[in-house]
Amino acid sequence: MNSKALAVLGCSLLLLILAECQEKEKPPKATEKKVTKEPKPNKLKPPKATGEKLHQAVAKPPKGKARVKPTAPPRQVHQPASILTRVVTRGQFQKVPDSLTLTAGDTLELRCRGRSVRWRFPAYLEDEEEGRLRIKHFERHSQLLVVNSRAADTGEYSCWSFQCRDSECQDGEDRTGKAFIFFTDPQELFVPTEDYYEVVQLRTNHPTLLPCQVTSPLAKVTLHREFPPEEVAVDGIDISYDVKRGFVIHRPRPSYAGSLFCMASLAGVRQISTKYMLIYINYPSSVPKPTVSASATTVRAGENFNVTCTVFGEPEVAVDFTWEYPGQQIGRPPYSRERADLARRGGQVQQESESILYIDEARAIDEGLYTCSAMNLQGTTTVSTRVQVLPATPAPRAARSG
Ligand SMILES: *[C@@H]1O[C@H](CO)[C@@H](O)[C@H](O)[C@H]1NC(C)=O
Repeated sequence: MNSKALAVLGCSLLLLILAECQEKEKPPKATEKKVTKEPKPNKLKPPKATGEKLHQAVAKPPKGKARVKPTAPPRQVHQPASILTRVVTRGQFQKVPDSLTLTAGDTLELRCRGRSVRWRFPAYLEDEEEGRLRIKHFERHSQLLVVNSRAADTGEYSCWSFQCRDSECQDGEDRTGKAFIFFTDPQELFVPTEDYYEVVQLRTNHPTLLPCQVTSPLAKVTLHREFPPEEVAVDGIDISYDVKRGFVIHRPRPSYAGSLFCMASLAGVRQISTKYMLIYINYPSSVPKPTVSASATTVRAGENFNVTCTVFGEPEVAVDFTWEYPGQQIGRPPYSRERADLARRGGQVQQESESILYIDEARAIDEGLYTCSAMNLQGTTTVSTRVQVLPATPAPRAARSG
């Protein structure tokens, strides 16, 4: 499929999705999120940002007692003792495993040992206006508290402590602790996101993440294409699944472009994630390496000359050229022309991109440095060459009169 066809396909998919979006908006799903203003202690009402329900939840889970299900056994490797602990009940501490599963509604209380502690937690909690997140610093530890937890609080929680002595804190000596915490909610198998669909760039040679994050490590997650409707094979090599991140496409190809979504099923409930609009981009492997040369390094006033900037690179990778030249300040009007052709070079098909700057009837002001900047998605490289302008010879006048 060529890029034009892809673009057309992408646009039509976009229209379809937008149309679908508007239909979906009638029962205001995306806005429902911030409606729950009044405090609802221990109520299992998750925000509904996205995630089309294919099948409604059967029953609410038993409320009350926190059910703690560490999914990974605590590692007993010779690591320094983690500075992160969890308060299970008053006075009862638990070493936090790599990943921990709680139920939405539970209270999460973490403690981080140290005098100068910083925390990192899911971005969703950062924008939270209901004050469900509280952080308190004490002399020898810091406390992070999440009350009335929600599926959306699922993610990585980590802390650092800095070694401070005599009011001097050393950055290098920091110690860390981290844990991935799932807040399961039978009605919210995916961590809700703001957007109904997300545009994802598939770049040549760059792994791509489809961040459909589940709220339970036990959910069975599959990847699907919207048009034509089909399941995408996940072989663990080209595409793999990570329960803490989502699907990773390790070697993007143009054929993956289009609309994809994840589907999760758990205990008879099936839900789909945000839709991902995958757009394939021919991504250059490196910055352009231009060369520049003038048709003559020395010209006489009145003569024409040109400066050519050339880049050999991967096919279908756009290169943009910009010029700086001596006559620029006084608005000399040189003009440039660009072209790109495929060329065979050293047994390889390469794209030869070129920009030619034409200077007609050179003047003294045109003497100096001609600088070409070539830019692609990886960056910009600048090269220059010098042109000297000599006074006009009397010869042409003699020729004209003769
Ligand atoms: C650049 O200028 C030289 C000298 O005037 C001329 O021979 C040549 O054809 C020009 N190149 C292009 C690409 O126009």
